[in-house]
Amino acid sequence: MPAPAWDALRRPCSSLLDAIGCTPLVQLSRVSAGVKATLFAKVEWYSPTGSLKDRIYAHMIRTAEERGALRPGMTILECSTGNAGIACAFVAAVKGYRCVVVMPEGMSEERKKLLRAYGAELVFTPGGESDVDLALARLEEIRAANPEQYWVPGQFTNPDNPEAHYLSSGPEIWEQLGGRVDAVIASQGTGGWLSGVGRYLREQLPAVRIYAVEPAECPLLSRRGWGPRTASRASATASCPAPSTWPCSTVW
Ligand SMILES: Cc1ncc(COP(=O)(O)O)c(C=O)c1O
Repeated sequence: MPAPAWDALRRPCSSLLDAIGCTPLVQLSRVSAGVKATLFAKVEWYSPTGSLKDRIYAHMIRTAEERGALRPGMTILECSTGNAGIACAFVAAVKGYRCVVVMPEGMSEERKKLLRAYGAELVFTPGGESDVDLALARLEEIRAANPEQYWVPGQFTNPDNPEAHYLSSGPEIWEQLGGRVDAVIASQGTGGWLSGVGRYLREQLPAVRIYAVEPAECPLLSRRGWGPRTASRASATASCPAPSTWPCSTVW
C-alpha cells in the first residue's frame, strides 16, 4: 500500500486497486454520548470488497511480485473463513491470477457466492469457522503436491500484513486527526491492523495507547487462552492457527 493520496479520486483510477484505502474517519456522536473522549471509527467498508483486508492483499501480492515469489501463471492459494479470502480473490482477479481458497464447508452461502463471483475456486474441508486447522492442513497438501505452482499469502504469518497498515491505515488516521490521537482500539483477527497502525502511531507519538479487544472465552493475547469463538464476528482469534508472535510482540 502506498502512503495515502487523498486526491487520487479526482482523476480516473487505472485499476480498482487504486480505490483501496483513504477511507473516512467518522466521529461517533450518539453512541458515545456521555463519554468524555471523542471517538472516531475508521469506515473500512468503503473499500472495494468492503473490508480492510483489501489493503493487505494488495500489498502482500504486490511485494511478492516484486520479490519474484509470485510470478505470472502461478496460482494464489489461501485459507480463509471470510473477508480475507474475498479480498484475496478480488486482488487476484484484478491482477489476472488463478485463486484457490480453502475453507470450512460450514461458512455462509453469502461468502461462498462472493468468492465465486470474484472468480475464486473453493476447496471445502469439514466443519465450521473453528475448524480452520483442517483447512490449513488441506492447503499444505495442495501446495506440497505442486510447490512451484502455488504462492500462499499467509495473512497470519506474512509481515507484509502489518506493514500494509503501517504504510496506509496508520498514516491515514494520523493525518485525519491532525496528530491529535490518544489511543486506538481494535478487535483482533491476525492482529495485523493493530500492529501496523500501533507501530506507526507510536513512532509519531510514543505515548499513544493501544488496546486490543478479544472475546472473554478466547483470551489469546491477554492470557494465551484458547477456546471457541462466539462473541465477535470481526475477530477471528479462535481461527488463528497458532498464537502469532509478530502481532503481539511488536506493539505491546
Ligand atoms: C472485516 C474485518 N475487520 C478486521 C479484521 C481483523 O483485522 P486483523 O486481522 O488485522 O486483526 C477482520 C478479520 O480478522 C475482518 O474480517
